[in-house]
Amino acid sequence: MKPFALKRDDLIFLHRLVYKMRNPPTKFDEKEFVKKGRDYLFKYAEDNVGPLNPERRLFLKGLLVGIGALAVVSVLPVLGYLNQPEITLKDFPWMIITDSDGNPIQASKLPVNNPAILVFQYPMQGDITFLLNIGDENGNPVKVPSTTVTIPETGATYTFPGGVGPNNSIVAFSAICQHLGCIPPEIHYYPPDLVKPNGPFPDFIPSDVYNIIISQGIKYGVIHCDCHGSTYDPYKGAAVVTGPTVRPLPYVQLYWDPNTDYLYAVGMNLHAPVILGRSSDLSGFATLSSYDESTGCSKLLVQKGQTPTNCYTRILTSFGNPFQQSG
Ligand code: FES
Repeated sequence: MKPFALKRDDLIFLHRLVYKMRNPPTKFDEKEFVKKGRDYLFKYAEDNVGPLNPERRLFLKGLLVGIGALAVVSVLPVLGYLNQPEITLKDFPWMIITDSDGNPIQASKLPVNNPAILVFQYPMQGDITFLLNIGDENGNPVKVPSTTVTIPETGATYTFPGGVGPNNSIVAFSAICQHLGCIPPEIHYYPPDLVKPNGPFPDFIPSDVYNIIISQGIKYGVIHCDCHGSTYDPYKGAAVVTGPTVRPLPYVQLYWDPNTDYLYAVGMNLHAPVILGRSSDLSGFATLSSYDESTGCSKLLVQKGQTPTNCYTRILTSFGNPFQQSG
């Protein structure tokens, strides 16, 4: 068999697919697969990993062709083979958040209530995360306070530390839905001017979900997943507003440096739900391209292009002078 030429994104996609296939609640039905072939695999992947764009569909098709139509069931061991072992980080790296050109994002310039999807990856490749600047319905940034978040699945709680930035209004949450893993654009942020009491009825949200949002007095927008209707409150630590999810979106802890106005992703709360599809927030399939495996540090720590000689993670608790190297 010819080796597959796989891109990083494809590998991450396969990793999530195989995770779902092996997970008892979403177990892959091999008999159905033998009967229906690739249509079953496509449907399974769409239902469990998220919509397939034409490129991804072609990739899966190519995978099946490569395996051979008669031995179609052998896709499972092949996928297992491709599902290389997870990499585990020792600690959360500090990572400066940059735009797509590699320039650090300035917190004071981050648009408030921007429904456009601003995402970055943290802590590993494929861990897509929303970056939101929360405001009121007039577009003024609002302070996002620290709050206690409950995980409906277990009843356990954890603390969400609140927003950062000049107005304490900037937050970051995993953009992988905790129900079945749909990602942007299926899951997205609706700012308060789009979802508000007495406003025009939002035809992009089911009426029962809208009624719950209004009855709960949610004032600063919602994150809603179109795949099956899960809704999260970004002002309250992405707590669950409507199911079927039974877990809030995990948050990425941010640090804002008032001297440079830069934003850093610095860690995650291990008491919050794990990023969907991961065995731990510190485990994944590939490190970020900005991550330096030789030092265990992000390459972009203080300024673009600066090379660190040590890690910065140990001083997370104090937030005092965070750019001193730890010893
Ligand atoms: S994946 Fe089902 S609601 Fe988001």
